[in-house]
Amino acid sequence: MDFNQSYRSFVLALAQNQRIKHLVLTRGRKFARRFIAGDTLEEALQVVEALERDRIHAILDLLGEMVTSEAQARQFQREIIRLVQALGERPYPRYVALKLTQLGLDISEDLAFSLMEEILSEARQHDCFVRMDMEDSPRVDATLRMYRRLREAGFDNTGVVLQSYLKRTEQDLQALIPLKAPVRIVKGAYKEPPEVAFQDKRLVDAQFVLLCKKAMENGLYTAIASHDPQIIQEMKRWTAQMGIGPDRFEFQLLYGVRRDEQKKLAAEGYTVRAYVPYGTDWYPYFSRRIAERPENLLFVARSLIQG
Ligand code: FDA
Repeated sequence: MDFNQSYRSFVLALAQNQRIKHLVLTRGRKFARRFIAGDTLEEALQVVEALERDRIHAILDLLGEMVTSEAQARQFQREIIRLVQALGERPYPRYVALKLTQLGLDISEDLAFSLMEEILSEARQHDCFVRMDMEDSPRVDATLRMYRRLREAGFDNTGVVLQSYLKRTEQDLQALIPLKAPVRIVKGAYKEPPEVAFQDKRLVDAQFVLLCKKAMENGLYTAIASHDPQIIQEMKRWTAQMGIGPDRFEFQLLYGVRRDEQKKLAAEGYTVRAYVPYGTDWYPYFSRRIAERPENLLFVARSLIQG
């Protein structure tokens, strides 16, 4: 296992500790705000306006995952519909992201499906795209099944995410080609065992590039979701060489990460979207961001000490 994988596993395991969680929730809020737009939809919409001034579009994400009751899932769904309606009143491109476990996937796929149907119907009225984020490997099959089911039900304003660290992903991509599914390619943010995921960062990076190229060569609209300078450079070079125009792909980055690069890409004429999370359920998302970069752990440790 290389250093990046070991570090990620260490941080994600540490994040499960209840005392650490309590400490971070009470004292780490200030640092967390670097990655999270705010507690409320209104705060998130202010961030959207600021991004739009730099020609960066937003992907709004109401934070929440792994719900264990139907009531919670329904509550999240109502909030997401409120988000879609609020975006519908604004002149910017409308795009939200959600997690299926936020809509009760672990309780019942049928429940999550019916909540998704209502969200997508509302989103369609507002010309809004809804990306289903990809969660950890035990949920990949159910997420891909959900995508197919929604497409069969006539919804084309949704798409999935493929993670380059998973060994299965090339096959998953192959299966999505006949559907012309819009895909987002990411490296993957969860702690996964060597049976299912590559543990060598160089392999994960190489797979990422390969998947993006394969998706675009086969005509899938592709969101290249990475902050990695070498990957961004290579995708710019390759798309130019292949004559693949900016109408066939876009760059996606996270709010609070490499803001200068986001602005630069937008100024160069690429479509750029920043993933903007908001809400009070920020701890799991924040833990994954810390797990991506050792320097972040130092920042968070400092903010815990300083309060
Ligand atoms: P890598 O981790 O190699 O980082 C490259 C460089 O980017 C670093 O050297 C650093 O400069 C910068 N960087 C990266 N992460 C940083 C951080 N947290 N803080 C500060 N700087 C950082 N994952 C998943 O499993 N399912 C999903 O649905 C999604 N969705 C998603 C959407 C979008 C828009 C993005 C950008 C990412 C995701 N991810 C995700 C997360 C993804 O899997 C991955 O964990 C992160 O993007 C980090 O990987 P990079 O490709 O940026 O490269």
